[in-house]
Amino acid sequence: MMPPEQDTSNITTHNSPASIMLTSRTENVSVHAEPSNVVPFSQYPIPSQQHQGQQTRLRFSVLCQPLRPVTLKFEEVAYSIYSSTTTTTSCLSLSSHKPKPRRSVLNGVSGVVRPGELLAMLGPSGSGKTTLLTALGGRLTGKLSGTITYNGRPFSCSMKRKTGFVAQDDVLYPHLTVVETLTYAALLKLPKELTREEKIEQAELIIVELGLARCRNTIVGGPLLRGVSGGERKRVSIGLEMLVNPSLLLLDEPTSGLDSTTAQRIMVTLRRLARGGRTVITTIHQPSSGLYRMFDKVLVLSEGCPIYCGQAEQAMEYFSSIGFTPGFNFLNPADFLLDLANGITPDEQLEFQGSVDHHDDQNSRKQDLTSSYKKNIYPVLKADINKNLQDSSFSTVISSKSSCGEVQWSTSWWEQFKVLLRRGLQERKHESYSGLRIFQVMSVSILSGLLWWHSDISHIQDQVGLLFFFSIFWGFFPLFNAIFAFPQERPMLIKERSSGMYRLSSYYFARTTGDLPMELVLPTIFVTVTYWMGGLKPSLVTFVLTLLIVLFNVLVSQGLGLALGAILMDVKQATTLASVTMLVFLLVGGYYIQHIPPFIAWLKYISFSHYCYKLLMGVQYSVNDVYECEIGMRCNVTDFPAIKCLGLDNKWWDVAALTIMLVGYRLLAYVALRIGQPH
Ligand SMILES: Nc1ncnc2c1ncn2[C@@H]1O[C@H](COP(=O)(O)OP(=O)(O)OP(=O)(O)O)[C@@H](O)[C@H]1O
Ligand SMILES: [Mg+2]
Repeated sequence: MMPPEQDTSNITTHNSPASIMLTSRTENVSVHAEPSNVVPFSQYPIPSQQHQGQQTRLRFSVLCQPLRPVTLKFEEVAYSIYSSTTTTTSCLSLSSHKPKPRRSVLNGVSGVVRPGELLAMLGPSGSGKTTLLTALGGRLTGKLSGTITYNGRPFSCSMKRKTGFVAQDDVLYPHLTVVETLTYAALLKLPKELTREEKIEQAELIIVELGLARCRNTIVGGPLLRGVSGGERKRVSIGLEMLVNPSLLLLDEPTSGLDSTTAQRIMVTLRRLARGGRTVITTIHQPSSGLYRMFDKVLVLSEGCPIYCGQAEQAMEYFSSIGFTPGFNFLNPADFLLDLANGITPDEQLEFQGSVDHHDDQNSRKQDLTSSYKKNIYPVLKADINKNLQDSSFSTVISSKSSCGEVQWSTSWWEQFKVLLRRGLQERKHESYSGLRIFQVMSVSILSGLLWWHSDISHIQDQVGLLFFFSIFWGFFPLFNAIFAFPQERPMLIKERSSGMYRLSSYYFARTTGDLPMELVLPTIFVTVTYWMGGLKPSLVTFVLTLLIVLFNVLVSQGLGLALGAILMDVKQATTLASVTMLVFLLVGGYYIQHIPPFIAWLKYISFSHYCYKLLMGVQYSVNDVYECEIGMRCNVTDFPAIKCLGLDNKWWDVAALTIMLVGYRLLAYVALRIGQPH
């Protein structure tokens, strides 16, 4: 294990701005913080079955697990985007599209965060906090320049696994309970050296440490489903990242939208995590003075430019030394810093801030603050960054995408598949086994059974219609259900894949397998009811073959739905395209039109409904069957126009065509997912 990089500077505060910056937290960082030293976060009683012995707690506590400390250094980080502005040359002329100008989002941001430190990023909305945090978490794509090193090395796959990233918006499965969410994550994230029981124990421990014991069996919920409270949900998100005992923890606004007590609790937890030897960086909006005191370091951004980066308690002193003293009614240092980042001085009256003159004043003040930063803070920061020279020997200029060699997964493919399958079934059981879906299928099956009640071969036109209805209904239904699969899960997939939680292939197979039971049970019930009510051939073999063909059709149409969803990743676009495709398949299926012009007849060969319909007729009728074509006159079924046109032979070709589609669509869905996903 690498020893933590200790901060040895011991210089006390002097009056010059530069000397203020030299002081740093001299508190020794403990890599193995003892839980007995910290105030327990949880005030809630823990259910007796969750009581672990003190021994177990000490053995597994997240806070006493060994860590590989990470010193994060970033220097001159700059990021810009193309802004798609349209410039108008005059009032009357049409707007002209000039080459897209680049807009700077981050400009020359530098800093050092060591193990045991908690850095808070402050700044007005849009100042670039999230962008910087994403860059520090190795998740920013695009043109990024500067140097970001982790223990002197660029971002790597092993670093990815040691980094916890809590995004601004919680991405969680709404139907899983708190304990299920954390347990499944533990089973996927924790290394295979731990037994299943130990992984579950770890999840339980996180629940206790984050004070979630009271709501452990409550569903997480979401915007449309009431579940745990916002603060509890945020703690679940933090817990998910804490599971792997990250050495570097990045959090984007973990306290936004929470009451001050909950915010304080979360910040206490973060501070405890930092004191346990972790490097913690958080962005924060409007922290109270109580919260501000918990920060070790602050980084203040103003329109992407840093105006302060250093010890939190010395920020006020620094701004005083460059002529910005807090006003008479000064209470909270964070308010003062945010005002300055907006170019507002404490003595300025709020009512004047909107005027044009004040805009100019604010802009010139921001420029003053930025140049003061460059003059006073940056040289000291640079010296601090370069303090450990051996680190800099490894540093390389970062590219927009860090390369990843051979990925080491925490768990085996099979284990990932099993956990993801179980989690998927649990999350979607309400949807898959919803009464509404069962009612929908049952009512259609009974209604069609009554409409075709005991039809016989003398009404061959009706029977053929029923067979065509089978192929179309079980083409549309699974297709539209499958379209939602990947677009709905996209945020979760991106989040979990970004932290290297599982392979895409194990996720893909688990997701598609999980949907199968319900996708196959419903058509089985449907065919059983309608087949016998509708008076189709009373032969068990024919019935079983009809059922198998319909199930085959279901799998193919589900594959098409998955592929459309994965390619477009937009439910609206995918459903539009799917409805057009299915209507084409319906028209060329062979029931409505028998004489399609040759130049467009090829369409039927790509329609799976056509093959399904043909196969259904093939098993229902044989060449020797006759029907009453006119009163008292019997004709061979092969003379019936619809059957004559399609033919009853070449069944194996139809099976082969459906098999190719079954494999092809699913392969296409997988490739589309692979291309569209990060790594
Ligand atoms: N990919 C992008 N496309 C367009 N604009 C972007 C992109 N990334 C960042 N920006 C812009 O960069 C600026 C900084 O964004 P960022 O999300 O980092 O701000 P922030 O400080 O986190 O704001 P907030 O406090 O509101 O969350 C914003 O003006 C944003 O519009
Ligand atoms: Mg943000």
